Amino acid sequence: MKTILDFIEAKEKKEKITMISTYDYWSAMLCEQAGVDCILVGDSVGMVIQGRETTLPVTLDEMIYHGKAVKRGAPDTFIVIDMPFLSYQVSKEKAVENAGKILKETGCQAVKIEGGEEIASIVERMVNVGIPVMGHVGLTPQSVHALGGYKVQGRTEEQQKKIIKDAQILQNAGVFAIVLEAVPSKLAKEITEILEIPTIGIGAGRETDGQVLVFHDMLGFFEKSPKFVKRYLEGGKLIKEALEQFNEEVKKGIYPSDEYSYE
Ligand code: KIV
Repeated sequence: MKTILDFIEAKEKKEKITMISTYDYWSAMLCEQAGVDCILVGDSVGMVIQGRETTLPVTLDEMIYHGKAVKRGAPDTFIVIDMPFLSYQVSKEKAVENAGKILKETGCQAVKIEGGEEIASIVERMVNVGIPVMGHVGLTPQSVHALGGYKVQGRTEEQQKKIIKDAQILQNAGVFAIVLEAVPSKLAKEITEILEIPTIGIGAGRETDGQVLVFHDMLGFFEKSPKFVKRYLEGGKLIKEALEQFNEEVKKGIYPSDEYSYE
C-alpha cells in the first residue's frame, strides 16, 4: 500500500497521482484492481448517492459507513476520507476526536478537510497527533452557500492571492497533499510550482501533480456532467439499456429460459 511519503516522492519524480472519489465496496474493488493510487471517500456521497443538493447534510456516521465499505473493497489502496461539514470546524478538540473516530472505525489512512487559513491551526493539531491530512482549496463545496454557488474560484487577482496564500499556509500546517477544485489552469500551475507537497486537481487543468474525478461522473452514470469531466464510459446509458432489456424479457416470458433455470 502507498503511504503519504509515496505521494511526496511522486511529485519529486514528476509522476502523476490518480485519485477516484467513491463510496462503496464494489467500486472501490474495481479502483484497486485498476491500480488507482488513492481512493477518496468523498462527502460528495451526499449528492451522488443520496441525491441531495449539497454535501452539507452528510453526517460523520454516514462517512464511517461508506469508509468501512470502501476499505473492504480496496484493502491495499491508500484511502482518504472526507470529514463532513461541521465535524472539524468547531474546535481543534472536536476535529481530533472526530478524525480519530473516522480512522479508527474505518481503517482509512487519512482525512481530507476543506478550507485555508481559517482551519490551519486545526490541521496542525491533527497532524501533531499523527493524523495525515489532505487539504482542499478553490471551490470548497461545504461552503457552497458562502461562495454563492458551485462556481469556478480564483478568477480575480484578489481571489488568486488568497487561494495561493491558503495553499501555502496549509502546507506549513502539515497537510501532505492539497486538492485544487475548479480553479483556472494557470493558477493551479502556479500553486503546483510553489508547493513542495502534491496538488491533486479537479477542474484545475493538467498541470497539477495528480487528478481526481468522481467515479460516477467519469463513468457517465448521470446524463449531464461538468465541463472538466471526461466521460470514460456512458455507464448510465448502458445500464438503462440492460434494465430495459430485463424488463422486456420478463414481461415477454423470455427470461428466465432453461439456461437460467434449475432442473
Ligand atoms: O467529495 C468529493 O468527492 C471531493 C472530490 C470531488 C475532490 O471532495
